[in-house]
Amino acid sequence: MGCCIVGCGKGLPALDVTNDELAQLVETSDEWISSRTGIRSRRISVEETSLDLAEVAARQALGWDGEGAGIQGQPAFAAEDIDLVVFSTLTPDALLPSSAALLRRRLGLTNAVSFDLNAACSGFVYSLSVTEALMAASQANVGGAGGRNHYHRALVVGAERLSRITNWSDRNTCVLFGDGAGAVVVEWRDDAPGIISSYIHNDDDTTNSLVCPAAFDSSFAFDEQGVNAAFAQDPALLLADASLARVDEELGVAEGVAAGEPRQAIRMDGQKVFKFAGNALTNAVLEVLERAGLTLDDIALIVPHQANERIIKFAAKKLGLGLEKFQISIAHRGNSSAACVPMTLCDAYESGKIAPGDKVIMVAFGAGLTSGAVLYEA
Ligand code: ACO
Repeated sequence: MGCCIVGCGKGLPALDVTNDELAQLVETSDEWISSRTGIRSRRISVEETSLDLAEVAARQALGWDGEGAGIQGQPAFAAEDIDLVVFSTLTPDALLPSSAALLRRRLGLTNAVSFDLNAACSGFVYSLSVTEALMAASQANVGGAGGRNHYHRALVVGAERLSRITNWSDRNTCVLFGDGAGAVVVEWRDDAPGIISSYIHNDDDTTNSLVCPAAFDSSFAFDEQGVNAAFAQDPALLLADASLARVDEELGVAEGVAAGEPRQAIRMDGQKVFKFAGNALTNAVLEVLERAGLTLDDIALIVPHQANERIIKFAAKKLGLGLEKFQISIAHRGNSSAACVPMTLCDAYESGKIAPGDKVIMVAFGAGLTSGAVLYEA
């Protein structure tokens, strides 16, 4: 018995931006980007919101787009069958309500509990791991008995518009990211193992190698003495938020912001992240294998986070595997953070690379520093 993946879908913006087009914005070239990252183009949302992309992915995963749920001839699910929505994003359209609550409302999932989870690029793997743990723990109390909710079927989503927190004048980062959404439906089944093992992990990002300050307004109606009386008389007279400087200091962005860099943009020390990523990916794969009592020979496919093809090649080499064991979908997408793994999983199903009974590992790493993997039987 276990938490089985029974539907998957993806949603992509219409606009495809090539490397040559990016070379109109920053000093770069198709040759540099494709040889250093494997990326040739990426989708950028112009009008689509994170929620729009998530809705497309979710409808496909639920089998509501007329195609079935995409896995093992699964028929469409009914809205009332979904009792949990976990939505992973670092670029929500709104802070309140959560993206999960907004998606629940759009899809009419009236029986679902919903919440967001942010673990950066590992968000989807974290979400699946948390969902599986909630489902497993709730099996003892079918029908609500036993003092906690019962979860039978969940929608797990990763959706991002990284284009909105990208500094489009920074060639070190802007060539890497794209927008998109992926979703899976998971179901507790008594006759299949589903998720066999999972592993989620954190290291401290001691050097601020991957950060993006939040978009809080820098205007405020209070100072250390209390209410700003001038503001009470004229709301135009707002104070600067004294805490922002401390946030910027802690994230190591103060100097750049003072020099005129946009505050709310991703900053990355590419080489540090690269080093962390290659090792984190390898460790997470080995950890889920050990927890499952399996070896690499038992695995049909690895579905990794798509940050840089060279990171995947590095991990493949360390694991002693050929690249054919990895689903690589980076060429026309780039890195869309929490959306990468579920979209890449969909690609694998669509191209027939995952058959019933296959054992598959999904693995990711990201800011935080976070990393993790989920091993399941299809
Ligand atoms: N075009 C042309 N030249 C460039 C570009 C570009 N787009 N970007 C950087 N360069 C230059 C640099 O300025 C540098 O020039 P210099 O030698 O004159 O200083 C040179 O190319 C080499 O730069 P490196 O940083 O050494 O290049 P590297 O081969 O390490 O590749 C990259 C950089 C692609 C960023 C790589 O380090 C990487 O992929 N890192 C990991 C990224 C990642 O995984 N991010 C996860 C983000 S997940 C999240 O949570 C959002």
